[in-house]
Amino acid sequence: MELPRHIAIIMDGNGRWAKKRLLPRSAGHREGMKRMISLSEHAFDLGVKYVTLYALSCENLSRPQEELDGLFSLFRKYFSENIARLLQKGIRLKIIGDRSLLPPDIAALSRKGEEETAAGERGTLLLAIGYGARQELLAAVNAAVRGGRELSQAEFAALLSTDGIPDPDLLIRTGKEKRLSNFLLWQSAYTELYFSDKMFPAFTNADLDRAIENYAGRERRYGKI
Ligand code: FPP
Repeated sequence: MELPRHIAIIMDGNGRWAKKRLLPRSAGHREGMKRMISLSEHAFDLGVKYVTLYALSCENLSRPQEELDGLFSLFRKYFSENIARLLQKGIRLKIIGDRSLLPPDIAALSRKGEEETAAGERGTLLLAIGYGARQELLAAVNAAVRGGRELSQAEFAALLSTDGIPDPDLLIRTGKEKRLSNFLLWQSAYTELYFSDKMFPAFTNADLDRAIENYAGRERRYGKI
């Protein structure tokens, strides 16, 4: 079975998962964090080399402060408790997104996590935090304009936050919605899309296996015949 080398996940539905259980939204995010750790470890164990998780978009940053504070606490917990595990498993951490939009201590913790895991060779975990594809593309366009000459696709891609990372083969979105929500718009030009009605905290490792199986059955032609 052909395995995707790079899986990207839009982890949607934490809030609705919690609401249905009469729990605060923060409980959905907490459960989502557990799922995210389990799913990424499962993917790396299968042999997937890159996993990108959309944890916070630029647009999410205008959610109520109370919700953001809950998410930021989870990010702090994640970076404080999980770096050792990534290190032990040989996984390199890479943040994509605008760190200046985050509380400074989280920006620093995430940078420390990247530095500590930099030698990891088994796989790369990309966390999209404060990420927006249009923002990323516009920054690249502005850098290109400053350079004052036309660029090739490869030169342009090198100006994106995913420089050096192959494009996602499979993009999964949980939570029923069928849209890309400003995620990896350049990088997903030929990505296979998979939508699940399950809310993210309910999306199991077996669901990931099913998505990979579904991917393996597709024919990728990249516009050719
Ligand atoms: C979308 O669900 C999810 C988020 C905005 C946050 C994702 C965060 C995590 C999975 C956990 C923590 C992450 C890290 C990196 C430690 P939603 O809130 O939009 O759900 P809804 O659409 O049902 O309201």
